[in-house]
Amino acid sequence: MINFKAIEKCVKEAGQIVLAADLENASVEKKTGDANFCTEYDVKVQKFLIDELSKILPEASFFGEEETNNNIKDLSREYTFYIDPIDGTTNFMFGYNHSSISVGLARNGKMMAGFVYNPYVDEMYKAVRNEGAFVNDKPLKMENKAVSEGIIAFGCARYNESKIDVLFSTVKELFLKSLSIRSGGSAAIDISRIAKGANVIYIELKLQPYDYAAASVILEEAGGVITRIGGGEISLTEPCSILAGTKKAHEEVMKIAKEKGYNSEF
Ligand code: IPD
Ligand code: CA
Ligand code: CA
Repeated sequence: MINFKAIEKCVKEAGQIVLAADLENASVEKKTGDANFCTEYDVKVQKFLIDELSKILPEASFFGEEETNNNIKDLSREYTFYIDPIDGTTNFMFGYNHSSISVGLARNGKMMAGFVYNPYVDEMYKAVRNEGAFVNDKPLKMENKAVSEGIIAFGCARYNESKIDVLFSTVKELFLKSLSIRSGGSAAIDISRIAKGANVIYIELKLQPYDYAAASVILEEAGGVITRIGGGEISLTEPCSILAGTKKAHEEVMKIAKEKGYNSEF
């Protein structure tokens, strides 16, 4: 029996490291590409999570965003934790107070549990496969809303500028058809928020498995859909595009993106 409560507790504790961060004196490293940063806290949170999660599930491997010396990545193992220690690093660096700790657990290549914690508002989105999704302890079941009935969220990264015109022209059309648009800066939160009805769609051209792994279970358990923009299955081994939403909105956006020039090479 996996101790999901213990995993949740450790994700929450990681949130305390984020809240206590001394941003003015934090060291920041620039990673490959434009505006792609890693602060000392991204590393500190990931190290903490891997140390603690290893105690809960010693046989697990880790697919974490940062380079840490305890990050054992071996996707052939039965269990793998997908870790984004701070999803929303740019928000974090600039004091936006809107970032999350995202931890997903896969078994034999299938996501089985997800935890996305926003420590600034003490909001824990969580789900275990076939056991429903929750925000804190409130069950999440969303209405099957159309694009015209809700808010559209999207993400884009400065370090991933190729094909940006297709994204923006799709987002423009969605803006005109929906109630409004947002780009929150933490894909894990934006996808999880669909589960509680705050967004009807999340779209981004390229994300890494640790960005969406945890949120994918939360969304699916609440009745939503997550695929690549073209409709293919999301990847747990390499980056891919993401289209997450209510069933209705997801179908509408797939059609719009296709008309705007989105194709499977994106
Ligand atoms: C980023 C956030 C952002 C998304 C970017 C991601 P990071 O993750 O999820 O919302 O638009 O593509 O890279 O770098 O802050 O962990
Ligand atoms: Ca991320
Ligand atoms: Ca991150």
